[in-house]
Amino acid sequence: MAATSVVEAPSDKVEETPEETGIQSFLVTFIIRRFNPEIDDEPRWVDYDVELYSTDRVLDALHKIKWEVDGSLTFRRSCAHGICGSDAMRINARNRLACKTLIKDLDISQPIYVEAIKGLPLEKDLVVDMEPFFAAYRDVKPFLVANSTPEPGKERIQSIADRAIFDDTTKCILCAACTSSCPVFWTDGQYFGPAAIVNAHRFIFDSRDDAGDVRLDILNDKEGVWRCRTTFNCTEACPRGIEVTKAIADVKQAILRH
Ligand code: SF4
Ligand code: FES
Repeated sequence: MAATSVVEAPSDKVEETPEETGIQSFLVTFIIRRFNPEIDDEPRWVDYDVELYSTDRVLDALHKIKWEVDGSLTFRRSCAHGICGSDAMRINARNRLACKTLIKDLDISQPIYVEAIKGLPLEKDLVVDMEPFFAAYRDVKPFLVANSTPEPGKERIQSIADRAIFDDTTKCILCAACTSSCPVFWTDGQYFGPAAIVNAHRFIFDSRDDAGDVRLDILNDKEGVWRCRTTFNCTEACPRGIEVTKAIADVKQAILRH
C-alpha cells in the first residue's frame, strides 16, 4: 500500500514579540573598537546603549546598532547560527562567535567590549583581512589525496574506528577564532596557526588519504607545529569544542614517528 503523509494546514498563529510576551528588556552598553581607514589614523572606541532581551545575542546587538543607530558599522556575518564561521570577534577580550554569544551569559552590569580578532590585518571596524589565514589553510592541502581509484560503483570503505580518529577535526568551520587567539600567531604571522594544523590533521589521520607524509613534511617546517607553545588559547576559543591543542599534539607525535 502506498504510504500517505499528512500535511498540516498553515497555522494562523502569529509569533509574539518579546514585548507582547512580557519579557523584560534592558539597556546594555557596548563599547566597539571602530576603524575606518578613510578617516581614522588609529582605531577608536565608541559607546552604544542598546535595548536588548535576554534571548538576544551579541550579533542581534550589532544588527540593532547598524540598522537603528549607525549604518556604517561594519562586520561579517552570514548564517547567524554558528555554522558559517564568519562572525568571530573579540568579545570582552575573548574570541567568540557573535551569533553564539548570548547576552544573558555576559555580565551586563559592565560595558561589553567588542573588537576585531587579533593577528590579521584590520580592514574596517570588526572586519579583518582573512587572506593570510586561508593561505595557511591552503598550504596544508586540506582535501583528500588518493592514489588509487575505487572499483567502479564502490565507495572508499572506512571502519567506524578509523573514522573516529579524525572525527573531532572534521567539525572545523574555519572561523579563525583559534588562530587569532594564539600568542605565537600574533607575534609571527608566518606561523601556520592552529586552524591550518586542525585541517591538516583531518586528512593526515584519514585512512583513505595518501598525502599524510607530504602534510607532515610541510608542518615540520620552522613555522609549523613546533612553534606551538601549548597555551591552550586555541582550545578555549574554539566555538565547535574541537580539542585543538590535542590535534596539534597528535600531529607532532606523527612527525616524530614519521
Ligand atoms: S578549529 Fe575551531 S576555532 Fe579554529 S577555525 Fe576551526 S572551528 Fe574555528
Ligand atoms: S554568522 Fe555564521 S557562524 Fe556566526
